[in-house]
Amino acid sequence: MTTARLRLRGWREPDRDELAVLNADPVVMEYFPEPLDRAQSDAVFDKWQRNWSEHGYGFWRAETRADGQLVGIIGLGYATFEASFTPVVEVGWRLAVDYWGHGLATEGASASLRFGFDTTDAESIVAITSAMNVRSQRVMQRLGMDHEPALDFEHPNVPAGHRLQPHVVYRISRTAFHQNCLPT
Ligand SMILES: CC(C)(COP(=O)(O)OP(=O)(O)OC[C@H]1O[C@@H](n2cnc3c(N)ncnc32)[C@H](O)[C@@H]1OP(=O)(O)O)[C@@H](O)C(=O)NCCC(=O)NCCS
Repeated sequence: MTTARLRLRGWREPDRDELAVLNADPVVMEYFPEPLDRAQSDAVFDKWQRNWSEHGYGFWRAETRADGQLVGIIGLGYATFEASFTPVVEVGWRLAVDYWGHGLATEGASASLRFGFDTTDAESIVAITSAMNVRSQRVMQRLGMDHEPALDFEHPNVPAGHRLQPHVVYRISRTAFHQNCLPT
């Protein structure tokens, strides 16, 4: 899939190396309990591949259309952790620092939402992040997603009492997306 500036494509085996570098970057991973080591990064890679085969969607490798450089991870996940609103389709993003501040996460996520509403029967798609991750919440707001405070929760996969445990939930309905969708 392409947008004005990005190509979103599936992951290939050789991409594991660059994904591991991104997942090990402490700046990129500031709002995760820890950067991922190689084994954890490979496990995430495997999970995304399973998502594609089991659900028909997943996270893409986002690259520049101009020269194919890795921009980051953008796409859709199937969240199954224990919470009042799961299981649910979620939209997510993780960009290499060099590509922050250019609107690329919003551009790729908008295309991901369109793909999600076109290819699944989900009536809404959520986005989830640590309450501290204001930059990510700004992406959600730019996408036209609404914060749903009633759904905010303590993430069960983050250690109890950790500063990153409180999470916020944003949501966009199929109708709202089609009324407000951004150009991609
Ligand atoms: C969260 C993250 C994806 C946000 O990236 P981002 O580049 O700030 O987000 P966007 O792509 O929406 O870009 C918006 C910024 O680009 C600027 N911008 C520049 N050119 C633009 C354009 N053509 N269109 C839109 N915005 C543009 C905007 O002004 C805005 O800057 P500001 O935040 O300083 O006001 C990025 O910080 C990241 O990957 N963080 C680490 C991983 C992470 O936290 N992931 C989320 C976990 S849930």
